[in-house]
Amino acid sequence: MAGDWAWGEYFTPSECMKPGAFQRRLRRAAPLASARCFSTQRHHRWSDPATFERTRLPVDEATTLPGAVYHDEEFFSLEKNNVFQSSWVAAAELVDLQNPGDLVPATIGGAPVVLANDNGTIRAFHNVCSHRGAQLINAKCSKRRTILCPYHRWGYALDGRLVGTPSFDDDPDGKKVPEQLREKFRTHHVKDFDKSKMGLKPINVECALGLAFVNLSGEAPPLAEWFGDLLPQFADFEKSLGAGKLHATHRKTYNIDANWKVLVENYLEYYHLPAVHPDLCKVSGVDEHRRNQGRGMYMGFATDPLTKGGTPLDPGRLPVFPTIAAHRTETAYHLSLFPNTFFSLYPDAFFRVVLSPQSAGRTVEHATLMTHAGALSVPDADAKMEELFAYWDNINTEDIDICEVVQKGTAAPTYQGGRFSFRFEETVHRFQNMIVDKMLAEPANRYRIPNGDQEATGFYESGSWAEPKQPATAAL
Ligand code: FES
Ligand SMILES: [Fe+2]
Repeated sequence: MAGDWAWGEYFTPSECMKPGAFQRRLRRAAPLASARCFSTQRHHRWSDPATFERTRLPVDEATTLPGAVYHDEEFFSLEKNNVFQSSWVAAAELVDLQNPGDLVPATIGGAPVVLANDNGTIRAFHNVCSHRGAQLINAKCSKRRTILCPYHRWGYALDGRLVGTPSFDDDPDGKKVPEQLREKFRTHHVKDFDKSKMGLKPINVECALGLAFVNLSGEAPPLAEWFGDLLPQFADFEKSLGAGKLHATHRKTYNIDANWKVLVENYLEYYHLPAVHPDLCKVSGVDEHRRNQGRGMYMGFATDPLTKGGTPLDPGRLPVFPTIAAHRTETAYHLSLFPNTFFSLYPDAFFRVVLSPQSAGRTVEHATLMTHAGALSVPDADAKMEELFAYWDNINTEDIDICEVVQKGTAAPTYQGGRFSFRFEETVHRFQNMIVDKMLAEPANRYRIPNGDQEATGFYESGSWAEPKQPATAAL
């Protein structure tokens, strides 16, 4: 029954058994008879479970989120706290934090943060000076022993301790100040000033899959629990992705006129391949893709087997990651980490995108192509990586173009949501229900970690694929 499927828990078995329950669900799944304009109903609608009732249904009965979730600035503002500050969010690539003294700034849910490599330990702090609130670090930097405020030069050690407050409390006789200025700078009489309590505010940080993740609320479960079976599933890759193991060969920033969720949802499904990526489809079409969905705050599918069509994605062009299991050398994994990171992990390289939402209708994508030292040691490695990046850049641009088209269409007040294809869009349904869990912030659901699809996940243990079953409700 539907309860066996991801998000099926929205209907308990007893509800499903009641006479007429299925017909009632279908009525709820039907498109609204009259479109309602969200602009006049505003944010109270976003805290009302009834708004999302049709998306909560099992995937084969559900309706997608209404178009306003991609356009309403109030929704976007609520997402900052409910989605981004309460989740584990990718804040930095570990390739940028591999040496002691590396500092990387980021903005998560509207809050400025800074990540630091403190003698091999990755730390994260609110990127705000304890004095008068200046943002401390504005760009990546390296070889720093302190985090120095650009305003009055307070200095913080990389473990967050406040260690320097020039002419403030550590110079009681004013001897560091030129004599003629001492009267003006007699600012050391600060009552009850305790430097040990004025350090940087720490943020929970954990590392995996070559990324540093932060959780600003401090309430999310540990990262290993958050991602469920994902990290054990990729334990062999993980040994190749840690600090110092990866090399970023290409980076690109894309400025996009689309909501960040449109970009995630596009990445989650391969239904659009024939229309949007016709060249890719010539060598890797819909039939080579399978769902790869286990328990955890992620959505996944895979390409298996990788076909050899004379493109830069062909297996065998570069040596594979040295630690991966034998059955992975002809498979690529396409993974989206809730909320805003997605990547395609190939046996020899991977292309990763981290989204930085700017407003309801605008998103910046940071894309990075990475590989390992062994791949870079072959004679024509640079040329091969260049070709690979050009290929990914083209695919990504095709995706961005169609996402901007979706952004325009979903602005129509008549668009109140569509229907999901079970085969292709269960991942989109899963993502949208994660969004609803976060936005409603109901205690029971706020940190719910969805179950996986047993039929789709069995492959990685057995080394072979199994076709996912249709949900039982489809046969009623
Ligand atoms: S705001 Fe940072 S030292 Fe004054
Ligand atoms: Fe695509």
